[in-house]
Amino acid sequence: MSVGLLSVVFFLNVSCNFVSSLFVNIRDTESQCFIQEVPEDTVIIGNFRLTDKPANQSVGILVEAKDPDDRLVLSRRYGAEGSFKFTSCNPGRYQICLQSISSQRPLSAGGLLAVHLHIRAGERTNNYTEIAAKYRLTELELRVQQLREQVEQILLELNYQRLREERFREVDHRTNMWIFWWPVVRSLYVVAAVTWTRVHSSIRPPPVFLLDG
Ligand SMILES: *[C@@H]1O[C@H](CO)[C@@H](O)[C@H](O)[C@H]1NC(C)=O
Ligand SMILES: *[C@@H]1O[C@H](CO)[C@@H](O)[C@H](O)[C@H]1NC(C)=O
Repeated sequence: MSVGLLSVVFFLNVSCNFVSSLFVNIRDTESQCFIQEVPEDTVIIGNFRLTDKPANQSVGILVEAKDPDDRLVLSRRYGAEGSFKFTSCNPGRYQICLQSISSQRPLSAGGLLAVHLHIRAGERTNNYTEIAAKYRLTELELRVQQLREQVEQILLELNYQRLREERFREVDHRTNMWIFWWPVVRSLYVVAAVTWTRVHSSIRPPPVFLLDG
């Protein structure tokens, strides 16, 4: 019972991380970026659409995605709506940026473009309707396939969590070293400052002789 509940929570947790839907306003010449944390070998699909296209202007969206090492993995120009897709080679934080492109500048309508963006990653990118039709799967077979894909996704996700934990521990270790050495460094500084003050105050100014009348 409790195991069942745990796995439900876990499934929910995993699924929530892998779908996001949002409205964004993109200002003229500015780009809006999002961070998506993904395990390796994971497909990311984004669909976007301008919700109110400025009249008379041909506008589009430039989509760029960078991997955790800041390498460009996607750079493409689209019209008022589109769909982009890429697969993560390395696990980590991927940056996805949307930017407005327009033949006329500046944009009308206050220079703002309202965009609806929907991002799916991993197992959520599978179109099971299509898979069922393609491989002529029964409902049960499809369900089994779906579970298999979900388990695979969870394993990838667990791997990624482990990697993240390792990185975190490294940073933590470095922080601890710094916390340990900081008082020592500070004490040395204080001793040096006191010594310097002593040495300099022992050099008295030359005596002043007062000459009588
Ligand atoms: C659209 O363009 C046409 C012709 O260039 C112009 O007459 C019209 O006023 C424009 N409409 C808007 C809303 O800018
Ligand atoms: C899945 O595939 C079907 C058939 O090709 C299509 O009608 C449907 O829109 C697709 N669904 C998604 C979410 O892409």
